Amino acid sequence: MKVFLETYGCQMNEYDSELVRAILSKHNYEFCATADEAEVVFLNTCAVREGAQQKIYHRLNDLKNRRQSGKIRVLGILGCVAQSLRKELSETIPLLDIVAGPDSYKKLPELINTVLQQGGQGFEFSLSEYETYDDIVPARVAGVNAWIAIMRGCNNFCTFCVVPYTRGRERSRSPHSIVAEARKIVSEGFPQITLLGQNVNSYQCDGKDFADLMEMMPDVAGLRRVRFTSPHPKDFSRRLLHVMAAHPELCKHIHLPLQAGSDHILERMNRTYTKQDFLTLVAEIRQVLPQVSLTTDIICGFCGESEEDFAHTLDVVEKVGFDSAFIFKYSVRPHTIAARKYPDDVPDEVKTGRVMRLNELQRNISRQRNEAEIGKTFEVLIEGPSKKSPHEWYGLTEYNKGTVFSAPDKKPGDFVQVNVTAAGTHTLLGRLV
Ligand code: 5AD
Ligand code: SF4
Repeated sequence: MKVFLETYGCQMNEYDSELVRAILSKHNYEFCATADEAEVVFLNTCAVREGAQQKIYHRLNDLKNRRQSGKIRVLGILGCVAQSLRKELSETIPLLDIVAGPDSYKKLPELINTVLQQGGQGFEFSLSEYETYDDIVPARVAGVNAWIAIMRGCNNFCTFCVVPYTRGRERSRSPHSIVAEARKIVSEGFPQITLLGQNVNSYQCDGKDFADLMEMMPDVAGLRRVRFTSPHPKDFSRRLLHVMAAHPELCKHIHLPLQAGSDHILERMNRTYTKQDFLTLVAEIRQVLPQVSLTTDIICGFCGESEEDFAHTLDVVEKVGFDSAFIFKYSVRPHTIAARKYPDDVPDEVKTGRVMRLNELQRNISRQRNEAEIGKTFEVLIEGPSKKSPHEWYGLTEYNKGTVFSAPDKKPGDFVQVNVTAAGTHTLLGRLV
């Protein structure tokens, strides 16, 4: 039977889709490139913001006719929306055959069989304290970057965030199995690995913390680049900075989610750090890793955010000078503490206005920071053709800067030296050295 699997959301979801591919391939399912060819269709979904969730409803609407006519025999929802809206989905969308949360993927073959043989709907959303899928080798798509989920779940309960409810409690995968998988990945030709976790700082297994794990990675022969995402500012280990500084394989890029700049809002968000804590951490990071690139996530218009609160966010953004930032409008998420405790009282147009102002500030900063790279030479790992011009390559520097250049004799996966000749907000342009 042919399966079509569509993935929404973060890198963890991409990784989970690779797990699902591996699990179903073992049971002789074949994967195809479009929903038109498939008898089984799964959407692996994201619930982190309302917009992401709306996309899923629209997509289900698109697929409705094919399910009704029987061309699609099994239509299922996986991932965070499945977990978060399990009841509503099963009741309001009778066309759905399967709803399975992030800890239930090993049960998918059985669920599909039951639905096909007995009809009815198959639901599975128990969250596990132990499931790390460390016994499944993900079906990776050949390319330059491979992911490894080193921990799953989150115990932080930031009040705006649905993730602790969709992905359950934190659990870490053994360092031994992570390193063994990294060796296998490198032997398959991937030069770069990204370690994934909702909060990598919480990694803890067999007496090793995240800094210990990062220190083990460069021992994997042939592994040229290691990245990770995301740490939480509250428990960022200073030792990790020294480990990063000591090993050229560990890329000097940190995605450090700020979320908000005002102490009042940070407290309401349960982020457990202050504006000053964040600024002090950034100063310490730059002291140990002077060239580090810093990126962030920010939410505008969280419950009770006044103009004065927002001014603190602008101030942090200006003071830190992030290389880039993902800026989001707050949306209420089901189950969260904020949904229960605080009214969503910032008018939509005010939220939108703040997102626009912050984006404009960040665009200027990004451009300035990129322009400062002109004249410097960086090692770039070629990922593939540039979007704008098929005759040029796109790749990342170790500092996570997208770089476009021409190099007719090179190919994806090659490491090249590129001299930066021009810079925009999002990309550097360069010439092969
Ligand atoms: N509204 C808006 N943005 C959110 N994020 C998480 N929850 C919400 C929400 N309810 C953002 C945070 C997080 C990123 C992945 O998504 O900035 O870091
Ligand atoms: Fe959500 Fe906070 Fe956990 Fe990140 S650390 S996944 S924002 S609860």
